[in-house]
Amino acid sequence: MRTTPATREFTGEAVPDVVLHRILDHARFAPSGGNRQGWHVVVLRDPEIRRRIRECYQLGWREYMAHVEAGLVPFAPQECGRWSAPAVDLGAAREVPRPNNFADTLDTVPVLLLLLAHLGSLACMDNGLGRQSIVGGGSIYPFGHNILLAARNEGLGGVLTSVVVRQEPAVRELIGIPESHAVAGLIALGRPVRTVRKLRRWPVEQFTTVDRFDGPSFTLRSDAG
Ligand SMILES: Cc1cc2nc3c(=O)[nH]c(=O)nc-3n(C[C@H](O)[C@H](O)[C@H](O)COP(=O)(O)O)c2cc1C
Repeated sequence: MRTTPATREFTGEAVPDVVLHRILDHARFAPSGGNRQGWHVVVLRDPEIRRRIRECYQLGWREYMAHVEAGLVPFAPQECGRWSAPAVDLGAAREVPRPNNFADTLDTVPVLLLLLAHLGSLACMDNGLGRQSIVGGGSIYPFGHNILLAARNEGLGGVLTSVVVRQEPAVRELIGIPESHAVAGLIALGRPVRTVRKLRRWPVEQFTTVDRFDGPSFTLRSDAG
């Protein structure tokens, strides 16, 4: 966990099928609500399909960057917990090229996995609460992260991405995804160009409190075992 960064630069080295299979074979032990394992993986191999996925990603990236440029968290719900309308002009955003090495060479990444979610398998326990639903993703993304951890175990690196989801209708048509499934993300894998660096994360005390949201932070006492 401490040495599995988001890797976006890969050598041209191919990932053998036996390695990819082993990664998926480890990752499948991820937890999911009711153990329903509602994930589906599409391994993207066809160059034309990869090229079109890259184009979809680039459009999503443009939408993302337009928000960042405006100082916004892209597509984040408002303070009330709901999302009602785009905070930027998405049509205009998609017209502005946003050069980015990863996005612009995505189709050349050694392994591209499209991660889908079978919606009917997700017990979204927060449906109807009048705010952004979040629980359903919890049955899919642990599997996605397991793929990254298993890849790390093979000396590989990767990143789970989501901006391509903005183009879900086009991706659905391109890949033949039925209405029953949603696009949860796109995972890129390969041999990292650079070795793992130290990851920057908040310390425990910054995000853990006792008894109440505004309670004291969870700190180890000096006499703790
Ligand atoms: C749900 C999710 C969506 C993400 N979407 C993208 C994405 O679309 N593109 C991308 O380059 N990285 C994406 N990331 C990777 C994050 O940017 C990365 O995990 C974070 O910046 C930490 O990077 P680090 O481990 O190298 O410190 C995503 C990560 C998660 C968990």
